[in-house]
Amino acid sequence: LDNGCLSIVVLGASGDLAKKKTFPALFHLFKQGFLTTNEVHIFGYARSKITDEDLRDRISSYLSPGEVSTESSESLSKFLKLIKYVSGSYDHEDGFLLLNDEISKHETTKNSQEGTSRRLFYLALPPSVYPSVSKMIRTCCMNQSHLGGWTRIVVEKPFGKDLKSSEELSAQLGELFDEPQIYRIDHYLGKELVQNLLVLRFANRFFLPLWNRDNIANIQIVFREDFGTEGRGGYFDEYGIIRDIIQNHLLQVLCLVAMEKPVSLKPEHIRDEKVKVLQSVVPIKDEDVVLGQYQGYTDDPTVSDNSNTPTFATVVMHIHNERWEGVPFILKAGKALNSKKAEIRVQFKDVPGDIFKCQKQGRNEFVIRLQPSEAMYMKLTVKKPGLNMSTIQSELDLSYSQRYQDVIIPEAYERLILDTVRGDQQHFVRRDELKAAWEIFTPLLHRIDDGEVNPISYKPGSRGPAEADELLSKAGYRQTHGY
Ligand code: BG6
Repeated sequence: LDNGCLSIVVLGASGDLAKKKTFPALFHLFKQGFLTTNEVHIFGYARSKITDEDLRDRISSYLSPGEVSTESSESLSKFLKLIKYVSGSYDHEDGFLLLNDEISKHETTKNSQEGTSRRLFYLALPPSVYPSVSKMIRTCCMNQSHLGGWTRIVVEKPFGKDLKSSEELSAQLGELFDEPQIYRIDHYLGKELVQNLLVLRFANRFFLPLWNRDNIANIQIVFREDFGTEGRGGYFDEYGIIRDIIQNHLLQVLCLVAMEKPVSLKPEHIRDEKVKVLQSVVPIKDEDVVLGQYQGYTDDPTVSDNSNTPTFATVVMHIHNERWEGVPFILKAGKALNSKKAEIRVQFKDVPGDIFKCQKQGRNEFVIRLQPSEAMYMKLTVKKPGLNMSTIQSELDLSYSQRYQDVIIPEAYERLILDTVRGDQQHFVRRDELKAAWEIFTPLLHRIDDGEVNPISYKPGSRGPAEADELLSKAGYRQTHGY
């Protein structure tokens, strides 16, 4: 990290996101020596009238037990000392002026390099307050140092509910901050195997000639959770699974799977290619969608009794370009299913002129498991060991826990927060990317909101509605033996 005083402000400090993700990620970075006591100050900001100590207690209670005990306890107490709390509202200057005073006080301590100031504002807040909070930051809390430094803001999805609301939000933020100051987090872009996609695709001769419509039959990008909306029913009911997972996390993965090779690794070059993929997506037809809602979803008192919000969706998408014409991209996400998993499954076409008559055993498939237990494996046909000449489906398996035993894979949020401090926007969503993503899903979302496309009920703990499996077969996905 470059020199100078770094102030990290977590707005919405007592909220769920801050406690579960932001503060733990900051602690892990601190423990690894990325944020040193000499230069870093962390501020929590929220409406509740609590003390510094209260916030510190809350933060420690959200760290895993191992981190609070034994060898980490010293780091933890040092880390907690960096944290201060400022209470204030999200739409009045008073609190933000106070916050600015606190930040400035630390910036002029003898530990910081005189005058330089780096200010990171992390909005762990609902988007409804983004406009007022970002205006307050702009008015009261910008870095004023003439010796350099910066002010950046980090925002979390949901960035709006549809194209129009997202564009309004973008315009409001855009009036206050320049694009290089705005970091739109999609935490899937911080996951190890998502970051590996570019390397995999563009650094391996194996894949270069195969990654196209001539060889690939279909691609699935799947997210499953084995729990429902527990505790988040109110939020979820307003958004649904497409806005919560597919329009952002899975679509970002799709971009990295489908994009052309960027000119270089510069963030703008990569994001240029991602935008082109999004702009080439064909409008989604209703017959390419199966929605589901798990039984019992509306029992949550924060969910309306007659809610038609989908908690499950399978959407078959097509990309209209030279590489992908005719290849279905199947995006599937669901809550309260039978397992917790996120993976990409690339299914290859049948071998022409099969002399082994083995195609019914299954096609070649390349699977990238994002979580849990990061892995990549290839399903392929081999001779069944033994005297007979028969074939069997087997796997070439790169499982990260076995291959990289000494490496601790960082949490997505750790990486992304570090990127914001370093000023690297490669793994953040650019404004035009966001717009293109909403353009794809807005018509469908409006049809769902208007009750024209409705979810099918499914049992919690199941695979989701059977109709989704039918859609998958219709899109050409062939179940492999044993899968
Ligand atoms: C969040 C969604 O963005 O991602 C949640 O709002 C979901 O509904 C979560 O549970 C999943 O993240 P991960 O990293 O556990 O796959």
